[in-house]
Amino acid sequence: MLGAPGAGKGTQAQRIAEACGIPHISTGDIFRANIKAGTELGKKAKEYMDRGALVPDEVTIGMLLDRIHEKDCEKGYILDGFPRTIPQAENLTKALAEEGTRVDAAIDIEVPDENIVKRMGGRRACPKCGATYHVQFNPPKKEGICDVCGSSLVVREDDRPETVKKRLSVYHEQTEPLIAYYRKAGVLKTVDGTKDMDQVFEDIQALL
Ligand code: AP5
Ligand code: MG
Repeated sequence: MLGAPGAGKGTQAQRIAEACGIPHISTGDIFRANIKAGTELGKKAKEYMDRGALVPDEVTIGMLLDRIHEKDCEKGYILDGFPRTIPQAENLTKALAEEGTRVDAAIDIEVPDENIVKRMGGRRACPKCGATYHVQFNPPKKEGICDVCGSSLVVREDDRPETVKKRLSVYHEQTEPLIAYYRKAGVLKTVDGTKDMDQVFEDIQALL
């Protein structure tokens, strides 16, 4: 899944993963789980995430390649938030090619920056299972409680407006070039992410 912060990558990845019965792998969620557990990886990632910067490729690439070689990934997986830089994409392409596989589809969810800032203020996330809600567009059944696992929902540290702006500029600089990278590879699929969530999901299913 490609797209700016707040474009709806996590929301849609979770739905596709459920529909296809394959894992949803979000590097952001992996980092947040490590921060919560107080691991060395978490401490390192937090330094970058709190200011809206990217965690260095040396840390991220190895972690992701380990994850996709776990048993539950044998039949496929959805990557959400990885790759995010050209070196990440190149390393992924190379690792998959060595195994005779490749990325089947790169889904770019397009949402203009103006819409993003509005969305992030209302986001609530489950720190335990990673489910994502929005106070207005996708509220949980019981306020502040995750529908899936019953945990208390939180506002993400990096959803403050100043940090969101920084994340958007990092996105345009370092991640947006991946759209051309996957277009060239012939696997880019683009959806309009300003439509409502169900419509975006239908559009993605039609493309896949
Ligand atoms: P990450 O967790 O990946 O954050 P992000 O890319 O900034 O994206 P978000 O999770 O904020 O947005 P999303 O597109 O998933 O949107 P969502 O579905 O939640 O990364 C966080 C940090 O970790 C990075 O800044 C970086 O530091 C580090 N990191 C992670 N991966 C890395 C990597 N590969 N390399 C280096 N560093 C890395 O939706 C947003 C809100 O909008 C929700 O409230 C949702 O309910 C709502 N919404 C969704 N769709 C719609 C819709 N169609 N209409 C209305 N509202 C909607
Ligand atoms: Mg996300």
